[in-house]
Amino acid sequence: MNATRNIHDGADIAARIACSLEKLIEQAPDDGEVAVPAARTSLVRPAHGWDSRYVEEAELSGERWHDFFRDAKTQVAGGGIVAFLGNRGTGKTRMAAEIARAGFWPTDKGEWNGNMVVTGKTALYRRAMDIFLDLRDCAKKGSARSEKDVLDSLAHAGLLVIDEFQERGESEWENRILCNLLDKRYATRRPTVLIANHTVAEMTAALSPSVRDRMREGGKAFVFDWGSWRRR
Ligand SMILES: Nc1ncnc2c1ncn2[C@@H]1O[C@H](COP(=O)(O)OP(=O)(O)OP(=O)(O)O)[C@@H](O)[C@H]1O
Ligand SMILES: [Mg+2]
Repeated sequence: MNATRNIHDGADIAARIACSLEKLIEQAPDDGEVAVPAARTSLVRPAHGWDSRYVEEAELSGERWHDFFRDAKTQVAGGGIVAFLGNRGTGKTRMAAEIARAGFWPTDKGEWNGNMVVTGKTALYRRAMDIFLDLRDCAKKGSARSEKDVLDSLAHAGLLVIDEFQERGESEWENRILCNLLDKRYATRRPTVLIANHTVAEMTAALSPSVRDRMREGGKAFVFDWGSWRRR
């Protein structure tokens, strides 16, 4: 059997076990009180940066879109760096949201809260530009967060989606920050999805050699080369 299929099957089995456990917990008697089944919490949350358009589920079509979705989900489950490239409106951000919703990706890196290690399952969505604006804000006097806090939250999330990757300064400072962040996530097998209106050649030029090398080993670029869903 091939290795990618194994990873996918493993993630699928884990998700099914989690679902069965959730059902058992819902059905368990609660000391005479009527148990109200809790709605399954979506992993695509505004609190984690997602726009409401992607928080809402939608009917999704397109055979190739679905082929890419299956393949990308497997890459993400394996902890790789995945790039979605192509023109406006081709469904790149929607695919990242559906991958987040499907949940086949690791838990966050545990944080020590003084008593115990706390883990969550966070799919963090950030536009590249917002990451750098957040980092610049940290340098302002009286800022409640340090640069390290911002970078740690990006490094520790189970899944990180960086959208509009082309909208940034591409300065040496930005490149170093991104390279360090992607390297940390790769080292702990936490997947990152990069989204850009770039061609493969433009994206290759925008990534540092070390990130390109990591993508070659554990990752893939998907080129969304069809028309916009927005015009349909
Ligand atoms: N497979 C699909 N079937 C039907 N509608 C889709 C599909 N994929 C995306 N859409 C819808 O098409 C619109 C555009 O999708 P999305 O925002 O993901 O595009 P994008 O590639 O991220 O565009 P941009 O580069 O401008 O950010 C959204 O309303 C989205 O819900
Ligand atoms: Mg988009």
